[in-house]
Amino acid sequence: MPSLATLTAVAQPVPFAPPALGPEEIAEVVATLESGWLSTGPRVRRFEQAFARYVGAPYAIAVNSCTAALHLSLLASGVGAGDEVVTSPLTFCATANVVVHCGATPVFADVVPETGNLDPAAAEAAVTPRTRAVIPVHYAGRPADVRRLNTLADTHGLTLVEDAAHCVEGVADGRRIGTTARFSCFSFYATKNLTTGEGGMITTSDDKAADYMRIASLHGMDRDAWARYTPGHSGQYDVVMPGFKYNMTDIQAAIGLHQLAHLDARHARRSAIWDAYDRGLAGLPLTRPLPADPGTVHARHLYTVLVDEAAAGITRDELQVRLRDRGIATSVHFRALHLHPYYRDRFGLRRGMFPVAESISDRTLSLPLSAAMTSVSVERVIEAVHEALC
Ligand SMILES: Cc1ncc(COP(=O)(O)O)c(C=O)c1O
Repeated sequence: MPSLATLTAVAQPVPFAPPALGPEEIAEVVATLESGWLSTGPRVRRFEQAFARYVGAPYAIAVNSCTAALHLSLLASGVGAGDEVVTSPLTFCATANVVVHCGATPVFADVVPETGNLDPAAAEAAVTPRTRAVIPVHYAGRPADVRRLNTLADTHGLTLVEDAAHCVEGVADGRRIGTTARFSCFSFYATKNLTTGEGGMITTSDDKAADYMRIASLHGMDRDAWARYTPGHSGQYDVVMPGFKYNMTDIQAAIGLHQLAHLDARHARRSAIWDAYDRGLAGLPLTRPLPADPGTVHARHLYTVLVDEAAAGITRDELQVRLRDRGIATSVHFRALHLHPYYRDRFGLRRGMFPVAESISDRTLSLPLSAAMTSVSVERVIEAVHEALC
């Protein structure tokens, strides 16, 4: 017979990562719609400037996804056919897909067991004369070892492109993520710490690359529509390369401007939920995330637990089903990329090649986490995990 708490939970499901949106975001979107300028325009420019100030980077280029940000960063790094790019297998497919889009080969290197972040020693061992770039992923919001990865990139003449999809508030070595690689790529997808529905940003201190990426993000035109139609400018443009349609709209930037203004407050709320999970799940047969590494700020994007069947008595997949039956949505970050059919078959990869990533891939489960969660929902998640493991 299900408990009363279980029945209540089913009646009111806890979503995985509901967006935290306030009246400011809604009002700014309405103002944008009323302004008559919907695509890339003044709000995108303001959002780029505010974002660059937030991370402390000289340039920020807004795009329509982190995938676009990663693709443009690799192109700006000169990655092309025959090149190799070293990255983590414990990531979303976009990180490696863009390497393939450049005509290059993704080369996976294993991750650190305690953090899920790219292991600098494994990354170094994967470098060959064809390697052009390294893409660490700040897994779940925990900054990767950017100091060692920058040294590795400098030693071998490689470009460091950080996949900061999870890590907008992160700090490593006293520097904000966004200033810790030649190119930093952020995601503003619906579940991310800062969301614009879909969206992304690249930060860099490389002025030439910033110019290139701005033009490449909009068909290769040397002037966007806002620049052409503001007073004092001619309506003309030149196409200087076969660019992409990767630009962000003013509707997205309208949301982003206010998401950015609330970013630190919402990070604090997610940190409080994180601490509540740490306390509430202590003693259960699960491995909880380690505390943030000294000298870093963890962006608190994903609260991931590891489920060991021997200790918990059930598998990760069974726990996920039991939580779903109790109205709790969870997710898996990630099934290691080399286990997916495309990467396995195209690059001749197989289970056993990246044992640490596989061990996390098989056992990890992400619990609901969002600044929009109520304390009642947080308690429900904790109670449901206790019930599911009993
Ligand atoms: C680690 C990682 N990299 C890249 C991406 C791609 O981001 P986007 O959906 O903004 O293209 C995601 C999205 O979930 C991600 O988790």
